[in-house]
Amino acid sequence: MILCFSGTGNSKFVADALSEKISDKVISINDILKKNRKREFKSEKPFVIVAPVYAWQLPQIINEFIESSSFEGSDKIYFVATMGKDTGNTDKYCKKLCSKIGMIFMGFTGITMPDNYVFAVKMKSKEECEEILRNSLPAIEDTAEKILALEKIKRTDRSILRGLKSGMVNKMFNQYARNDNGFTVSDKCTLCSACVKLCPLNNIKIKNNKITFMHNCTNCYSCIHHCPTQALNIQGHTENNGRYVCPDYKTFEK
Ligand SMILES: Cc1cc2nc3c(=O)[nH]c(=O)nc-3n(C[C@H](O)[C@H](O)[C@H](O)COP(=O)(O)O)c2cc1C
Repeated sequence: MILCFSGTGNSKFVADALSEKISDKVISINDILKKNRKREFKSEKPFVIVAPVYAWQLPQIINEFIESSSFEGSDKIYFVATMGKDTGNTDKYCKKLCSKIGMIFMGFTGITMPDNYVFAVKMKSKEECEEILRNSLPAIEDTAEKILALEKIKRTDRSILRGLKSGMVNKMFNQYARNDNGFTVSDKCTLCSACVKLCPLNNIKIKNNKITFMHNCTNCYSCIHHCPTQALNIQGHTENNGRYVCPDYKTFEK
């Protein structure tokens, strides 16, 4: 069973690709969070978590999700993280999480995808993004083969300062930066409610004909990237950085 969380579609792309290759189904963590559904999962095949990396760890909401879920059938979990360029020590924290919940850690891999961190990074052109997506396919294929063979995935890449990034910097990100404080809505907003429908945490509501943020944001930036009129911004950060939405795996020209 593949459990996937995704803000702009990269992790969904990888989950759909894995699903095709290992013939297993994808369950959307976004939907479970949004609809506050039960977190009870049963599968004879190994569980595969697919999610983005936020500040060199899995998003805190995903760590909490895994900890509060029950897994029956298989006792094995693989972790597949999508990233802009560096997952730091995310693998170490996934391993710890597995021992906490009594599951077998089958390994971790990071798949390089277009970086969606629009707060600080300019989005790449459509062509550049498509090239990155095409380049991700062999790594996804390789991961699928290991999962099918029930082989442990060993990580080979190691970035500098990974302990600091996944440790103190991640802690600071979650404590001070992960919020909707600077979010703005310009008069380009048509109240189409795309952001309301997409937000996995139900953090966006329309109140008195105004988009309102409820201060329970995980910073997936799905709202900012999907807004059809680019009316949503983080003041002073995202206005000139473009937007990114990953194409659907099934229709993407490989
Ligand atoms: C809040 C936030 C933090 C991020 N931190 C990292 C990071 O530490 N390292 C990295 O390589 N990419 C980072 N990224 C980029 C995403 O991990 C990457 O683009 C991912 O594939 C997005 O997946 P999604 O489209 O499924 O949401 C970050 C993105 C966001 C929104």
